[in-house]
Amino acid sequence: MKVMTIGGIRPDWINLEPVIKELDKWLGGDHIVVHTGQHYDYNMDKIFFDELKIRDPDYFCEVGSGTLSYQRGETIIKVGEFINKFEPDLVIGFSDANPVLGCIAAATRGIKIMHIESGMRSNDARMPEEYNRRMIDHISDILFCPTEIAESNLLHEDISQHKIFRASKLIIDVLTKFDKEIDERKRDVLYKFGLSKGKYFLSTEHRPENVEDKKNMANILEAFNIITAIYDIPLLFVAHPRTQAAIKKFKLTLPKKVKMIDYIGFLDFSALEKNCFMGITDSGTVEEDLCWFRKPCVTTRISTERPETEFVGANIVSGLDAKDIVKCVEMMNERKTDWHIPYYEGTTKRIVAILKEKEDEIMQPKKWW
Ligand code: UD1
Repeated sequence: MKVMTIGGIRPDWINLEPVIKELDKWLGGDHIVVHTGQHYDYNMDKIFFDELKIRDPDYFCEVGSGTLSYQRGETIIKVGEFINKFEPDLVIGFSDANPVLGCIAAATRGIKIMHIESGMRSNDARMPEEYNRRMIDHISDILFCPTEIAESNLLHEDISQHKIFRASKLIIDVLTKFDKEIDERKRDVLYKFGLSKGKYFLSTEHRPENVEDKKNMANILEAFNIITAIYDIPLLFVAHPRTQAAIKKFKLTLPKKVKMIDYIGFLDFSALEKNCFMGITDSGTVEEDLCWFRKPCVTTRISTERPETEFVGANIVSGLDAKDIVKCVEMMNERKTDWHIPYYEGTTKRIVAILKEKEDEIMQPKKWW
């Protein structure tokens, strides 16, 4: 069986690390990795291959930056070219960012598609990712759902039960596997940024609707100003280049106790998550990480496709009003952190086991409807 795995942004490589290694081990040269090239700076891309010892991708699409339509179109065209060359029996896409759209190039060619982390829905039609999630789920042949809610979302959309498989989150396999290395980074990374264990807020903000809107960005900084004063601790703001550029463009001032830094590696960032007081973020994966590390999280968005983190009490979606963000920080501070974790280890093993079981079926011609 010939398998092609597609990725292109930071969380793709972090999450796919164990899958790429296991498929390489099983299939050797019959497993290839395509990099769409949506993230390309060293500290958004290559650093993760180096740190997590992931081998180089086989094909590079070099899509790069551009409008949403350009990125989406170019991804489908370029991945299509590599599909023609390699002729895979199965194409694997992950989650909901634009690289997963490469699967569309396989859809009408009779090539089977597997979607990892399917069924997640924010029900927010303003998010480009919501379209990606829905499109890919509806053209996939094997769908791995990370939670019960994700599975029921798919069933509600009339996706056949026989295509759906339950597993959990790949990120848990990765955090568990690298736990020792993450702990080893703790002392140096806290020292480097002048922080003490449990006595700092950690924040990431990168979504265009948050950071490229002057009012929203100003609200977030105002909330940072208030909470660092109330709790009398610093806030480390790990900021996307887009966020840094927007703050400069809008001539916004960083509050005194806020330290803004460039993106860093996975092990250092995970050590910061594991030892913070609380996280404030618009990142999906960071919501999950913090839940796993039993660190309270405030999500500066109006929706989340990870409602489980809210249901178990690990996270609150605050919206973008400064007062609401502060109120949510106060609410999270009052909560105990002994929540039930809705994720578990073992997703990689389950994916590989199902693929081995279904190998013959995957090699059969596609049943169209
Ligand atoms: C990503 C995309 C987002 C896209 C979304 C789709 C970016 C920056 N993120 O966001 O645009 O809409 O997928 O689901 O384009 N981490 C580091 N170093 C750091 C900060 C974070 O290694 O300095 C790690 C975290 O440990 C975590 C992951 O990166 O594992 C989170 O990445 P992030 O880009 O925030 O993920 P998403 O919100 O999922």
